[in-house]
Amino acid sequence: MTPNDYIAREDKYGAHNYHPLPVVLEKGKGVKVWDVDGKEYYDFLSAYSAVNQGHCHPKIVKALTDQAQILTLTSRAFYNNILGEYEEFVTKYFGYDKVLPMNTGAEADETALKLARRWGVVKKGIPNDQVKIICCEGNFHGRTITIITMSNDPDSFANYGPLTPGFIRIPYNDSSALEEVLKEHGKTTAAFILEPIQGEAGVFVPDEGYLKKTYELCKKNNVLFIADEVQTGIARTGKMLACDHEGVRPDILILGKAVSGGVMPVSCVLADDEIMLTIKPGEHGSTFGGNPVACKVAIAALNVIKDEKLAENAEKMGKIFRDEMKAIKTEMIELVRGKGLLNAIVIRNKPGKTAWDVCLAMAEKGVLAKPTHGNIIRFAPPLVITEAELRDAISRIKEAFKLFE
Ligand SMILES: Cc1ncc(COP(=O)(O)O)c(C=O)c1O
Repeated sequence: MTPNDYIAREDKYGAHNYHPLPVVLEKGKGVKVWDVDGKEYYDFLSAYSAVNQGHCHPKIVKALTDQAQILTLTSRAFYNNILGEYEEFVTKYFGYDKVLPMNTGAEADETALKLARRWGVVKKGIPNDQVKIICCEGNFHGRTITIITMSNDPDSFANYGPLTPGFIRIPYNDSSALEEVLKEHGKTTAAFILEPIQGEAGVFVPDEGYLKKTYELCKKNNVLFIADEVQTGIARTGKMLACDHEGVRPDILILGKAVSGGVMPVSCVLADDEIMLTIKPGEHGSTFGGNPVACKVAIAALNVIKDEKLAENAEKMGKIFRDEMKAIKTEMIELVRGKGLLNAIVIRNKPGKTAWDVCLAMAEKGVLAKPTHGNIIRFAPPLVITEAELRDAISRIKEAFKLFE
């Protein structure tokens, strides 16, 4: 089969809910992937920051295959010998009393919203039909009906019928907007949910102090601070969590993606007892959440982050990347921004010189990245990237830009 045959087959039999770059991958190792013709690429997307530990990390794959031969799924109808090990490991790792394991990022976000609403009703005393959650413009928290209710991107929410009540959306990176809305709705607000850096919005980094200030406003108003670190967490931005940059400890922490190193869907919600124990047996769950394979994979994936000092590497490599991108002399680049190895370039789109065209040119040169919102290219390689690999990739990106001169 040719690459076009693979693409045509997906097109014919699969729903058209994505618009992939026309490369057909068949293998991955570390920071690299190979297509069906054997062409090698640097992966500068890392499956939207799920593959932080690099493709097919041997320790993570071993955890997967070892456990897969012993016990894969019990459901939560019974205890098993692995779940508790993971629960102890992950709560100590992130410093929370309890964890609630799920699978995808969206499920973990949904779980956090339910948990916050429940806490709002039973602990804060908000009448059940009046509970509010504050979210931010430009957010991306996933694709369920309730989650798209929070979105102000019509691609996400339009024409999906009636949405979920109980949300107030305020501008991102504007703590006075939060202050204002809390003045009016503080008593009936259970939580404020945000991404500490907005990934899908195009790697939008808020001003320094924003997280701290909004956290303090939440404390003052007895409102939970929920951090969605599905994309920013697990060392991506140069610290274990993006909230660590400002020393903020979220009341509810949402993790996904790289919790498994991209090997399988593993997500979770972390919180302390006063919040987590408001959900009682039978009131929330997931057949696959916390399955033995996921637990073993997550332990291995999180160990790799610390053992290989990937947060430190992300911090160091990220600086080099941004400096080099800023040094490219071209009219096409409007802006370079990011933190650690979560970065973006904003392109001045012109006919034949759009972010999509740049991504095609980079693919030609052996670097894979994907545009978001039409004019922004996100650059997020696996955190295991070495300086030599990074510099090689950078020179390819520069060559790609030269093609437009
Ligand atoms: C911040 C954030 N939250 C949630 C999600 C949803 O995760 P999933 O696609 O695993 O449902 C994403 C996915 O990109 C995300 O970036």
